[in-house]
Amino acid sequence: MRVAVLGMGSVGRGVLQMIEEKDLGISVTAVADSRSALIDKDGISIDEVLEAKAKSGFCGDRSLTAMDVVKKAAYDVLIEVTPTNADTGEPALTHILTALEKGRHVVTSNKGPISREFSRIRSLAAARGVQVRYEATVGGAIPVMHMLEHGLAGNRVLAVFGVLNGTCNFILTRMAAEGLTYEQALLEAREMGYAEADPTYDVKGIDPAVKLVILANTFCRKPVTLEDVEITGIDLLTNDALRLAEEQHCTIRLIAEAIPDRGILRVAPRLLPLSHPLVVEGTLNAITIETDMAGEITLIGKGAGSVETASAIIGDLLYIRNFHAERHPKKT
Ligand code: HSE
Repeated sequence: MRVAVLGMGSVGRGVLQMIEEKDLGISVTAVADSRSALIDKDGISIDEVLEAKAKSGFCGDRSLTAMDVVKKAAYDVLIEVTPTNADTGEPALTHILTALEKGRHVVTSNKGPISREFSRIRSLAAARGVQVRYEATVGGAIPVMHMLEHGLAGNRVLAVFGVLNGTCNFILTRMAAEGLTYEQALLEAREMGYAEADPTYDVKGIDPAVKLVILANTFCRKPVTLEDVEITGIDLLTNDALRLAEEQHCTIRLIAEAIPDRGILRVAPRLLPLSHPLVVEGTLNAITIETDMAGEITLIGKGAGSVETASAIIGDLLYIRNFHAERHPKKT
């Protein structure tokens, strides 16, 4: 299987490292960052490209762009991991639509296009008979999409509740455990590199709302958008509120919830008993899926990070390889 990788940030580099280290039989025929690209139909050297990026800041030829890769490279799967834009979804949206239009599969961690143009992307993929997979958009390493689509196939999903933003969870954990102020905890979270480029997306609840939209569109019949989500962030939470919670053997977590039958699509700080399964610490994410047959299932894991996100992307890639092998037995 041949892949082209767009985006050489921590996720893109993690994916390349894992493809190399794990010897998965995947050939990387193109890479691009925001200012350069490299295309070789016979396969590029991952070590060389990572070294070039580390030394010069460029992964390849400055006269080539990400769109050149999408249009001209020889690949079966486009891995779209460029920085996300929650407002327009661009330029990732154009990369994804163009690859699908050309009949290529797509794997992405990019929340912007998947939350904004889910129906359009899915319809185009279906029309071209290819896969678009986006496990890495929600919950980092947690295989929640696979669980919803495959593990719980045949179940009716009644509700999904979750801690979907590691930055907010880290801030709440640090405020409660160490008595840090909101500003001090936010500064620490930013230093760890988990926060979005603009951390107001995290603390105002927009990032978890975007993830909730992606989850809801995956399991609900009725398509939803970010505008349908009622959002309250944690930016106005005080240490007093956390102290009061503690006096009741509780704590506060930013919970995203989708309950289709009750028309609920909401992100808001919630008071939870300390023993509640969604009370996870630090940057962890946690997701509870409530179903008719399986009852409640809670998944807990790392919601971000280079290798953790690569785990979700590689899972999607290998899923496609099986799918692709069935349809095109000679190519794999
Ligand atoms: N800023 C996000 C978070 C990164 O803190 O969860 C992962 O999507």
